[in-house]
Amino acid sequence: MKFRLHTYGCQMNVRDSDAVAAMLTAAGHQQSVTEDEADFIIVNSCSVREKAEDKAMGKLGLLCKTKRERPERKVALMGCMAQRMGKDIFKKIPLLDFTVGTRRCGTIPQLVQRVLDGETNIIEISKSEATPDVPDSHNETGYAAFVTILLGCNRRCAYCIVPDVRGPEFSRPAKEILTEITALTKHGIREVTLLGQSVMNYGLMNSVWDEHDSPSPGGYTEAFSRLLEAVATIPEIQRIRFTSSHPSGCTEEMVRAMNTLPKVCHHLHLAVQSGSNRILKLMRRGYTREEYLDAITRLRAAMPDFSLTSDIIVGFPGETEQDFEETRSLMEQAQFDNAFIFKYSTRPGTPAAEMNDDVSKDEKMRRNQVLLADLDIQGQKKNEALIGSIQEILVDGPSLRNAERWAGRTPGNKIAVFTPREGLTPGTLVKVRIIKAAPQTLYGEIV
Ligand code: 5AD
Ligand code: SF4
Repeated sequence: MKFRLHTYGCQMNVRDSDAVAAMLTAAGHQQSVTEDEADFIIVNSCSVREKAEDKAMGKLGLLCKTKRERPERKVALMGCMAQRMGKDIFKKIPLLDFTVGTRRCGTIPQLVQRVLDGETNIIEISKSEATPDVPDSHNETGYAAFVTILLGCNRRCAYCIVPDVRGPEFSRPAKEILTEITALTKHGIREVTLLGQSVMNYGLMNSVWDEHDSPSPGGYTEAFSRLLEAVATIPEIQRIRFTSSHPSGCTEEMVRAMNTLPKVCHHLHLAVQSGSNRILKLMRRGYTREEYLDAITRLRAAMPDFSLTSDIIVGFPGETEQDFEETRSLMEQAQFDNAFIFKYSTRPGTPAAEMNDDVSKDEKMRRNQVLLADLDIQGQKKNEALIGSIQEILVDGPSLRNAERWAGRTPGNKIAVFTPREGLTPGTLVKVRIIKAAPQTLYGEIV
C-alpha cells in the first residue's frame, strides 16, 4: 500500500509524522511522493487556532470527496484535532476511516491494517492523562531531526488548547532519548532539536535517569542540563537545539549548560505573548514583563552572541490600545531576532473562552501588521549588525530561490545564503563571512 502523511502544526507533529512514516515503512508499506498516487492518506492535525482546524477539516473533506471516484482510497486523522474532537469527527467527516489521539500514535500500523481488512470509522483515543506511547523517529533524510523529550504541558495558559489535547507533562527516559539520537546519527543526522512544550521542564514530573546512569561530569543536577550534556557526548552530533522555552526554565544552571557545552546553539525561542503585565496575568503566563526582560538580560550577559525569537498574541480578550503599546515597547526593549505574531483565536474549553473576545477582527489584523512592520525593522537592524562577522553554517543545500546559491543556518537559526564550493555536501559545517543582510536572511561567502 502507498501512504502519504499530510502534516499541519508544530514540530511535534512533524516529528510524530516522521515516526508514523517509519513505522508504516517497517510494516512493508511505501511512502508515496505525490498525494495523487497514495492509497492511504493520514492527516496530522493541529488545534492551536481555529484556522488550523479549518485547514485540516477542509483537507479531510476534499480527500473524502476523492473516495467517490476512488472507493478503495482510505483517509485517516491523527494529531491534536483528533484528540480534541473524539468521535464527533465522524459527524462532520462520515467517510473517515480512523481517528487516533495524540498519545496513541504507536497503534497506527495496526489501525491501518484493520482498515485494509475492511473496517472503517475506527476510533483510538485514550484519555489525555494516559501514559503516551512514543514511537521512535527514524528520519532517514537530511541531517537535522526533531526528537521529542517531553510530551504534554502542565501549564494552564488561559488561551491554550495544548494541555487538553496533549495531556499532562511526561518526560521520556533519558536512555531512550540517547538511544534514539544515536540511531539517528547512523542515518546522517548531525543536528537535533529537542522538543517539548516547556522543554526545560524535562524531568520535573517523572524521573528520567536511573541509578545505574553515571553522574554528570559537569556537575549538573537539573535533568534538562544533564540531558544536554549527555546528548553532547554523542560524537556525530554537531549541533543541539531545543524548543519551546518558558522564562521559568532559564535557571542559572541551564544558562551555564547552554554557555559551556559547545554544541548547544545560543538560541532560544522564548515566547513572551504580551508586554502588558495586566494581559500576562489574564493569560496566566506566570511571569511579569520585568521577569521576562530579566531572563533575557541574564542570557545575553552570559552569551553575547545569543539569538532570541518569540511568539506574541495580539487581541487577547480585553487587550486595550495601551496594552498593545506595551507589547510594542517590550519588543523594542527585547530586540527579537524574529517572532511569530498570532491573532488571538478562541479555543473551546480553555479559560479564555469564558472571556469576552472583544477585540474586533480588523483591530487584531491591524495590531498584527503593526508588529510585523516593527519586526522587519528590528530584524534588519539585528542582521546588519552581523555584517563582517564569520558565522558557522550547517549546510542545508541549494537555496529555494536560486539553485546556484546554497543555504544553511547559523547557530542563531538564521538562514544564510552563500556560493557553494566544489564538493560541498549538505550537513557539513562551513564558515561564512556575512556581507549583506535582509530582515530574514543573511548573505555571505565561504572563508
Ligand atoms: N490564539 C492565538 N494564538 C495562540 N497560540 C496558542 N494558543 C493560541 C490561541 N488560542 C500561539 C502562542 C503559542 C504559539 C504556539 O501559538 O503564541 O506560543
Ligand atoms: Fe498545534 Fe499545539 Fe498540537 Fe502542536 S501541540 S499540533 S501547535 S495544537
